[in-house]
Amino acid sequence: MHAADIITKKRNGEELSENEIAWLIQAYTDDKLPDYQMAAWLMAVFFRGMTDRETAALTMAMANSGEQVDLSQVPGIKVDKHSTGGVADTTTLVLAPLVAAAGVPVAKMSGRGLGFTGGTIDKLEAIPGFKATLERQEFIANLQQYGIAVTGQSAAIAPADGKLYSLRDVTATVESIPLIASSIMSKKIASGADKIVLDVKVGNGAFMKTRADAVILAEAMVNIGRLVGRETVAILTNMDQPLGMAIGNSLEVKEAIELLSGRGTAALKEVCLELGSQMLVLGGQAKTPADGRRLLTNLIDNRQALAKFGEFITAQQGDSAILQDTGKLPQAGFVQKVTAPCQGYITAVNAAQIGYAAMRLGAGREYKGQTIDVAAGIQMQCRLGQYVSCGQPLAIIYTNDKSKLKQADEILQQAIEIKEQPTVIPPLIIGLVD
Ligand code: URA
Ligand code: CA
Repeated sequence: MHAADIITKKRNGEELSENEIAWLIQAYTDDKLPDYQMAAWLMAVFFRGMTDRETAALTMAMANSGEQVDLSQVPGIKVDKHSTGGVADTTTLVLAPLVAAAGVPVAKMSGRGLGFTGGTIDKLEAIPGFKATLERQEFIANLQQYGIAVTGQSAAIAPADGKLYSLRDVTATVESIPLIASSIMSKKIASGADKIVLDVKVGNGAFMKTRADAVILAEAMVNIGRLVGRETVAILTNMDQPLGMAIGNSLEVKEAIELLSGRGTAALKEVCLELGSQMLVLGGQAKTPADGRRLLTNLIDNRQALAKFGEFITAQQGDSAILQDTGKLPQAGFVQKVTAPCQGYITAVNAAQIGYAAMRLGAGREYKGQTIDVAAGIQMQCRLGQYVSCGQPLAIIYTNDKSKLKQADEILQQAIEIKEQPTVIPPLIIGLVD
């Protein structure tokens, strides 16, 4: 096979065969295909798109490019959840113990945060002692014993995707539906998921700004799942404001504990119940989403999910005393209120800007490998539609770097809009694609 022929075919809008795609991805992974040819092919895909069959073939070629995690020794249907990325998205911290408590094994390989979105591994590492990198055997042993294990995604998972993503980043080819869909699905499949629940975020704090775009991405991923035999369901959820009230690693762990203790933000709980009930249905632990929701609500109310969270933290060498005393989590040296400059209704909360402010405070990374401040972040004090009086706190900012307070305050003042008249609040759960 010749790369130039495959590029020509794609450029002309013809459908590539599974073999052609597999050959191209293998050659690129093995450093036998230069970046300039792969870049030309990516640009042809960007303009011509891919059929569902091609997208599925690309997904499997990338999934097969490295290690395939085999979870067959672990009984039960392994259902993974993936979010396309948002702000104050603490769902994984809540759902992992919650769904595990309901009897669906949770085998998660998660990433670190980059830019204005956080990463589950960083959040877990805010827990004193927590070990977020498990050897494969330890991962499987914990799964067998506790029904839950979370580890950082190793470079051995779908290496073709990592290499392609770096190239896409510098060739203006990130924003292609088949490339995004195959990138996400290849990592889930290589990580051993039998079935997948996707949380596709829509709004100003998300990759997809409109419902129409989000539906197209969701359908692309659900179709891949169907074609490769990994049943996939996607829920579209709103990201026009931070989902929970906490942004930042320690603060989000605290919010997850509060939710599992029967308190916590209504919107975060709602999205967790919606995603979790789908996970229970796919995992065979509930007949309908409504049954799943009842079961999960029970596991919160009777604190069994909180107990599972403690078991999980202890199993990965963390200090589960944080469940009784969240003051044992790392605390920031500087705390400052951001107050309303006038009275009125909250009509817009720019989630991306708030995520950016949290990153600047030290909660996230501007570049790969940057050290973060797990205690840094933002605790929101208002939600869309709420009426606030002049001087009322809109948010509380936390950091260990005093010089960061002023800029964060300015960004937050800009990000939160207050008007005399209330606005229409967008629905939280926007749709389902299955
Ligand atoms: N997230 C991914 O994992 N891949 C993409 O291409 C975009 C978002
Ligand atoms: Ca369908």
